[in-house]
Amino acid sequence: VSLKSLNTFGLPAVAGRLVRITSDADVRRVVDHPDLGRAPKFVLGGGSNVIFTRDMPELVLKVEVMGQRLVEERADAWIVEIGAGERWHDAVAWTLDQGWPGLENMALIPGTVGAAPVQNIGAYGLELQDRFESLDTVDLLTGRTVTLDAWQCRFGYRDSIFKGALAGKSVITRVRLRLPKPWQPILGYLDLERKMAETGCTTPDARTIFEWVCQIRRAKLPDPAHIGNVGSFFKNPVVTPEQCRDIIARDPHVVHYPMEDGHFKLAAGWLIDACGWKGKTIGHAGVYEKQALVLVNRGGAIGSEVQTLARAIQESVYGRFGIRLEPEPVVV
Ligand code: EPU
Repeated sequence: VSLKSLNTFGLPAVAGRLVRITSDADVRRVVDHPDLGRAPKFVLGGGSNVIFTRDMPELVLKVEVMGQRLVEERADAWIVEIGAGERWHDAVAWTLDQGWPGLENMALIPGTVGAAPVQNIGAYGLELQDRFESLDTVDLLTGRTVTLDAWQCRFGYRDSIFKGALAGKSVITRVRLRLPKPWQPILGYLDLERKMAETGCTTPDARTIFEWVCQIRRAKLPDPAHIGNVGSFFKNPVVTPEQCRDIIARDPHVVHYPMEDGHFKLAAGWLIDACGWKGKTIGHAGVYEKQALVLVNRGGAIGSEVQTLARAIQESVYGRFGIRLEPEPVVV
C-alpha cells in the first residue's frame, strides 16, 4: 500500500500491510488476530506530523473512527466527544456551528482529532490541553479500552505520553473536549493584535477570531493540498535566562518570549531565518519562502532529502547560536 497520499509532506513510502480502524472493536480484532496481533505496529492519523524516510514493514493502523456529539452540558462547559479519525479543522468548525465556541484559535491546523493530543497541538495562545477533558485509547497488547485524563496524558509543549512511554502502544479512538462557559476570547498573540488594529474591531466574537486565524495561517503557512509540508518542522527551543541573555548579546533582535516558569522560548523560525535559510533548497526539499520554520516538498522529495536539509539547518543554527533545534514531527 502506498503511503504517499497518506502523509501531508507527500513522501514516498510503502506499507506492507495497512488496516483501517473504524471502532475499538476493529483494534481488538487486530490484537486477537493470530498473525497481526504479534506484528509491530505503526498508528497513522492524518499523516500531517510524520516524515517517512523508509518503507514500513510494520502493520500500519489507519485511524478512521468518525462521529461527533455533545456528551454533557455543565453549568460551566460543554463537553463534546469527537472520533479520532475526524479532521481537526472540521471539528473546530462544527463546534462553532453548534454555538459552542472555544477552539477558534486552533482553526486550520492540519491533521486528525486523534493526532491532536499526541503532540498537544497549539496556536495563537491556545493549546489542546487547555480544552482537553479526556480521551479513549485501545491498548495494542490487551485490546482493552482505557480512558485517560489530562494528567495521565502528560501534556507538554508539543509533547505527551503518546510520544514517550505510550508511543506505538495504543490507539486513540475518541477525544473529549471541554468548551468553557462563558466564552472568553484569547487575543494576546501579536498576529491577532494586528488584526484588531487593522479592522478596528477590538471585541471580536468567536466566528471572527476563527476567520482571522484562517487568514493569518493562509498568508504564511503553505496548504498541504498544494505544497507538501508538516507545519512547523522544529519546536521553538526553550532556554534559561542566562542562555537567553547570551544570545541577545550575540544578536539583539532575536525573537524571545518569557515563560511562566522563568525560562524563555525562542522563535525557531527567526533563528533559521537569521542563518539565511529562508527559500533555500536541498535536493527536492526546501525552506518555505514565507516562514522559515516550515520545510516544504518542492516536488518529488524523498525522506532522506528532508533529513539532510533538517540536519544542515540544525548544524548552522547550532554553529551560530549554540542551540540544538529539535524536530517536531515524528521521523520514521
Ligand atoms: N519569524 C521570522 N522568520 C521566519 C519565521 C518566523 O523572523 O521565517 C519570527 C516571526 O516574525 C515571529 C516569530 O518568529 O516574530 C514567531 O513566528 P510565528 O508567530 O509565525 O510563530 P512560530 O513560532 O513560527 C508557532 C507554532 C505554530 C503556530 C504559531 C502560531 C511551534 C513549533 N509552532 O509558530 O504551530 O501556528 O506559533 O501560534 O510552536 C505547528 O506546530 O506545526 C505550527 C504551525
